[in-house]
Order: sequence, then structure tokens, then C-alpha cells
Amino acid sequence: MTDLLIQNLAEVATPLGSAPLRGADQGRISRLRGAEVLCRDGRIAFVGSPEDRRARFGELPEAERLDGRGGTLVPGFVDPHTHLPWAGSREEEFRRRLSGATYQEIAAAGGGILSTVAATREASEEELRRRVARRLDLMLAHGTTTAEAKSGYGLSLPDELKQLRAIRDAAEAHPVDLVPTLLAAHEIPPEHRGSRERYVDLVCQEIVPAAAEAGLARFCDVFCEEGVFTAEESRRVLEAGRAFGLAPRLHADEFVDSGGARLAAELGALSADHLIAVTPEGIDALAHAGVTAVLLPGTSFFLMKHRYAPARRLVEAGVPVALATDCNPGSSHTESVPMVFVLAVFELGLTIEESLTAATLNAACSLGLGGEIGTVEEGKRADLVLLDAPNVLHLAYHYGVNPVAAVVKAGRVVRTASYSPSVTA
Ligand code: NIG
Ligand code: FE
Repeated sequence: MTDLLIQNLAEVATPLGSAPLRGADQGRISRLRGAEVLCRDGRIAFVGSPEDRRARFGELPEAERLDGRGGTLVPGFVDPHTHLPWAGSREEEFRRRLSGATYQEIAAAGGGILSTVAATREASEEELRRRVARRLDLMLAHGTTTAEAKSGYGLSLPDELKQLRAIRDAAEAHPVDLVPTLLAAHEIPPEHRGSRERYVDLVCQEIVPAAAEAGLARFCDVFCEEGVFTAEESRRVLEAGRAFGLAPRLHADEFVDSGGARLAAELGALSADHLIAVTPEGIDALAHAGVTAVLLPGTSFFLMKHRYAPARRLVEAGVPVALATDCNPGSSHTESVPMVFVLAVFELGLTIEESLTAATLNAACSLGLGGEIGTVEEGKRADLVLLDAPNVLHLAYHYGVNPVAAVVKAGRVVRTASYSPSVTA
């Protein structure tokens, strides 16, 4: 495999290490001016000055070169919460929301998640795979190199497995890596509306074991929320998942405090996600248990909540904070981490440095991948994003544009924008 040498960078901006950064450390990133990065065998072999590189590796005449053209290099973005494999579309429901209907009202009237469930059950596995692949193209174009992807629009054994296979097959043929999560407990399906306990039994006794035995999921998730799954039901599902080797993570306290944060802490989940309605006790529990808070400001924005997760209080309490898109057709229809980054700065009140850590290292750690990705450091996998920006501040300062000029995945240039930097052999 040829070496890739990334040169002419204004700066390399990155958090450091393999563990989640919390408290004041979340905002301590490294900003190296004028550095080069050498990728070898898919990994980062060197980060430092051109002089040091020459002293250690020589001129490298055979290396492929990516001309940074005065841009900024950051770690590939990691998006740790998405609902990628869905069919259908919900723009009419969106229009109703624009005229005042709430997300919960639409769900109570049979729309919402259940309308996507109907469309996803109808869709063939091949159609789902194509839809996931299309969304992966958009993610890559916006700098995402690893993402989590959940099932949860099948809500039956065959349809949940169909979604998980679509995730696996789309990722196999695409530069973006996907980490699959079983979210069979996303909603009670229509055929079990009169017997919710039977559905929880089905999830615990059939869907979890089948997904785990087929090697189709790494995590188990639950929508723990008023009107969806109670904390007790969520615990049953997550414990069943854990018995089959699926690590717990959960949708917690999105609209009201449902005990989700406390449950995440008690189970030692890798992440508790959403947390718009988390209580001070919930924050303490997360801090003590070391659970990462995955915040999804795109969801507050898209649902026009005018209410965001208490990101500053989470950071101040010492909870590691990560960011994700929540990419889904109902509550956050975007593949763009840069968009979420802007919302994190403007609406969550995170600093640019804290947001960078949240979108890279802390997100990677929430997927158990902190040792492998999430920073620009020697030894890590060479998943990198070149920004068309003279420094990292432009990630929020120059908003509403796609800042991504090129994406490197495992040491290969896999995407360049039309105004792209030049790649020469
Ligand atoms: O994360 N919270 C539950 N699930 C998604 C919404 C899914 C949908 O509306 O289709 C979320 O917000
Ligand atoms: Fe979600």
C-alpha cells in the first residue's frame, strides 16, 4: 500500500488520547501549525514538522501527496447515533408540524415512527441497502468516516434483521464504517398494541438472540420515554441484550425525565443519548458512572423545541459529551455533522474546541473505538478530514456551507470536493 503524505496544511486540530475527555479537558485540543501527516498501511505514521518528517522518513518520492492548500486537518467525524435504514419519507408530517402539530400528537394519531415502520416493512432488503448507501455518500461528503446505525423501523424479527443486514451490506461496499445497533424496542408495533408485554417478551426472547447470533449487532438500544418504553421495560431489554453480548446504550430523557439517565448509569451503558429533559440527579448519575452523553441538537432544532440538552451543566459535572446527527426521517433529517457542530456551538453553548472533541474522540469512545479512531495521532487509523478553512474556528464561524475539501479513510483519499485540493502521485 502506497504512503499518503498530507502537506501544506495551515493547522492540524485534534483532541488527544484514547479515553473520553471530560470537564475542562473536553476543550483542550492540540492545534499544530504547519504540520504534515504521513499515512502508512492505513494508519497515521507521523504528525509533525516537514523537517522532522524528512529526518525520520526521508523525502518519500514514491508517496502519494494530498495538497492541503492552506486548509485544516481534523479527525474524521464519528456520528454515534443514526437511524439510517428507513424507507419512505415524512415531509407531509413535517408540514403539519410547521403549522403547529407536535411530534407527539402526530405519533399519537398513528403517524411518526409507525408510518416509517409501515414503509420499511414494505421495502425490500435491496431497496433498504441502496437507501443506506445513498445516505452514506452524503455522510462521507460531510466528513463522517464512522457512524453508528440503528434498526428500529422493522419491529418484527424478520424486519429488524432485514434492516441490520442492509446496514452490514451497505457498509461493506462503502468507505464509511458502520457500527450496528439493534433498536427493536423503538416503539410498540401496531399488532402488539393491546399486549405490550408480549412485544417486550418477543424482543428479549427472539429478536435479541437472533440478531446477536447472526453477528448483526454490536449494541442494544431502547427508546426509554413516556408513552414508549418505561425504565423497567428498558432494563429488561438492555439486560437481555447484554446476556447475548450486545452492549447497552439508550435514548434517555428526550422529552420528559423517564429515569433513562439513571438507568444508563446503573447498567454502565457506553452512552445515554438526547437528555433534553435530564434532571440534576440524572447528570450526577452519568458523571459517577462515566457514561458519555450523546447530544443531538439537530433534533431540538428540527422539532422546533426551543429547548436543548443542558450541555454546559453536563460538561461542568464531568460528563464526557459527544455529538450526533440522529439522522432519521421524523425528528432530525440530516446526515451532516458540520450542521450539528454549528448547533452545538450556537445552541448548546459548547466551545469550538469542546465541540471538536465531541464530534471525534468522545463520539468514538461512545462506540468503544477510542483506541482506534477519533484523533490525529501516530498509531491511530488514518481517518481524516481536510477542511477548506484556515483554522478550526471556521467549523462554526463559516456556517451553512460544507467545509469538507477531502476525506481520507484508512490512509486513502476517498472523497474530494469539486473545489478540491490536488492529489498527485
Ligand atoms: O431519536 N427518539 C426516537 N427515535 C428517533 C425518531 C425516530 C422517528 O421519528 O422516526 C429519535 O428522535
Ligand atoms: Fe434517535
